[in-house]
Amino acid sequence: PIDVKKICCIGAGYVGGPTCAVIALKCPHITVTIVDLNQSRIDAWNSDDFSLPIYEPGLVDVVKQARGRNLFFSTDVDKAILEADLIFVSVNTPTKKSGVGAGFAADLNYVELATRRIAAVATSNKIVVEKSTVPCRTAESMRTILESNSHGGARFDILSNPEFLAEGTAIKDLLSPDRVLIGSLQTGEGLDACQALANVYANWVPKERILTVGLWSSELSKLAANAMLAQRISSINALSAICEATGANIDEVSHAVGFDSRIGPKFLRASVGFGGSCFQKDILNLVYLSESLHLPEVAAYWRQVVDMNEYQKSRFSKTVVDTLFKTITGKHIAVLGFAFKADTGDTRESAAITLIRDFLSERAYVTIYDPKVEESQIWQDLSEACPNTPLETIKKYVTIVHNVIEACKDKEAVVIATEWKEFLEIDWQTVYDHMTKPAFVFDGRLLIDADKLRKIGFKVKVIGRGDSTQ
Ligand code: NAD
Ligand code: UDX
Repeated sequence: PIDVKKICCIGAGYVGGPTCAVIALKCPHITVTIVDLNQSRIDAWNSDDFSLPIYEPGLVDVVKQARGRNLFFSTDVDKAILEADLIFVSVNTPTKKSGVGAGFAADLNYVELATRRIAAVATSNKIVVEKSTVPCRTAESMRTILESNSHGGARFDILSNPEFLAEGTAIKDLLSPDRVLIGSLQTGEGLDACQALANVYANWVPKERILTVGLWSSELSKLAANAMLAQRISSINALSAICEATGANIDEVSHAVGFDSRIGPKFLRASVGFGGSCFQKDILNLVYLSESLHLPEVAAYWRQVVDMNEYQKSRFSKTVVDTLFKTITGKHIAVLGFAFKADTGDTRESAAITLIRDFLSERAYVTIYDPKVEESQIWQDLSEACPNTPLETIKKYVTIVHNVIEACKDKEAVVIATEWKEFLEIDWQTVYDHMTKPAFVFDGRLLIDADKLRKIGFKVKVIGRGDSTQ
């Protein structure tokens, strides 16, 4: 296998940035250049004060150590392609908004454009690595494009190396991954390319955690892992509805079920619904793949995971309306948390967006506090969620503030949408004193001590808990 000395990563987003920054940190003998078409994103990666384009715990430290040493950020895509031995394609693959497969299929346009650029520019052999999450057999299309456009005798080997990091814990996940998965063609050249990439990871990942498989298995494993993780959440959320109706407690049920070593305790936390850029997109992609393969039962099975998530979000909105005496028109609601999970500023598919959209459709006033999400992002998300409402109208109903007390002052209800650690430290007595009475708290994240809040005087609703205590 070739000895990789120069790596190029196309796409400086949530995956390309942290992943290749960690590769640079752990492989000082490899020069890593991360490129993107988005100038302001690259400027942020290069900023003197390290105000990076994404918030991820531990990321600044990694970039501080490697940037300028063997880690570079640039918009000169062609130069980085030309010089690299190995190229990660880590561009976005969102759900298609129009055309064939709209609403389900992955939009592979960015992957294709990046692939065509590699073919147009490369004059020497390259290992091209799919880092983006793609439908099964995308590597074949990439190979066809590369081989049909190859010039100067350049040869391309395609690998699949899906990324399993979760936002908020990306650096930890990258430094000690459960596994690294590499898929290749089972030919001599394919296996050599696979070994070359495995050798890069072997600089810090134990060999037994580097799994090598066929290309299609690797591509499908990524969709499978996300679908099964999301399925656990939808399963527990479905049970949370039964808990609310019966007086069982979802925390106790999760704990009891998760104690079975075959099931395990992780990823069984009931919530207002999963969000993030991956779960919904990847499951819809799997649904589309199943339908294209004429497997409608398989498609319907996975689709239900997303349907249950939509149900969980609308069920929560309905609980808020019903509990506030069946109308929230003109009422004031504080929403704590806007990110799709704690420790990230990312809002893609955040449940908070759906809840606030529902509240606005009832003409309630909403005040939002999130410790990390930028104001401009909130306005953009709400505009997209309410396409028929002008932003000026949205701004009449929505206020963004900078701390919890300010958010809750003079409100009828508080809704917890994200499990930020600082919400565990809220001084609920002070919040209560500042609220309109009766004061309601709706906990979509199993974060509060409901009994303690009830003693203060709050009316409390928690996901997966009935009203009465046993
Ligand atoms: P992102 O939108 O944050 O970043 C993608 C970047 O690629 C953007 O900055 C965009 O400008 C750039 N880009 C697009 N086309 C380009 C081109 N032709 N040349 C140069 N740059 C180009 O997306 P992301 O969250 O990093 O996700 C990237 C891929 O990784 C997706 O396929 C996603 O499904 C997958 N993934 C994401 C996560 C996650 O937690 N976000 C985890 C695992 C896998
Ligand atoms: C996910 C996968 O975990 C990761 O392996 C993959 O690479 C990308 O997609 P991410 O979306 O960043 O990562 O975060 P994750 O921690 O999986 O959370 C996704 C959503 O599920 C969040 O909204 C989170 O709050 C929610 N969740 C998670 C629950 O509601 N309950 C749980 O028990 C766990």
